[in-house]
Amino acid sequence: MASCATLATFFSACGGSPTSPSAPAATLPVLPGQFASSRVQVTVAGSALDNVGAAALVESVAGVFLLARTSAIAFTAVDAICSHESCTITGSDGSAYVCPCHGSRYSRSGQVLAGPAKASLRQFGTTFADGVVTIAL
Ligand code: FES
Repeated sequence: MASCATLATFFSACGGSPTSPSAPAATLPVLPGQFASSRVQVTVAGSALDNVGAAALVESVAGVFLLARTSAIAFTAVDAICSHESCTITGSDGSAYVCPCHGSRYSRSGQVLAGPAKASLRQFGTTFADGVVTIAL
């Protein structure tokens, strides 16, 4: 039998009845990340992350990450795999990330704001230079 994490790739509602968040979450824009030498680099100049407060889902061969711009020169990066049942977190509601499967909400730094998830998302260090964010894995 396939694991829930495997099935989560194909079904958005894995492991229970999906619940709707109180307000519909917007779908995060998706940006490509380039993986090399234990880092993922994301070009943010001219992207959905041009503005402070914006967030995006970064897809790379090293995994998926949630990247948010917190100031002109600062970003937060967290694992995009929900700590509840491993769905990929694809939604945003104000300043919170929202899991599409059962509605868990996380802060931009990965802390749980509302369950059913109980564990925080892993946070990664970031640096920013020349329009490119580097996520240190
Ligand atoms: S997998 Fe259940 S809330 Fe994310």
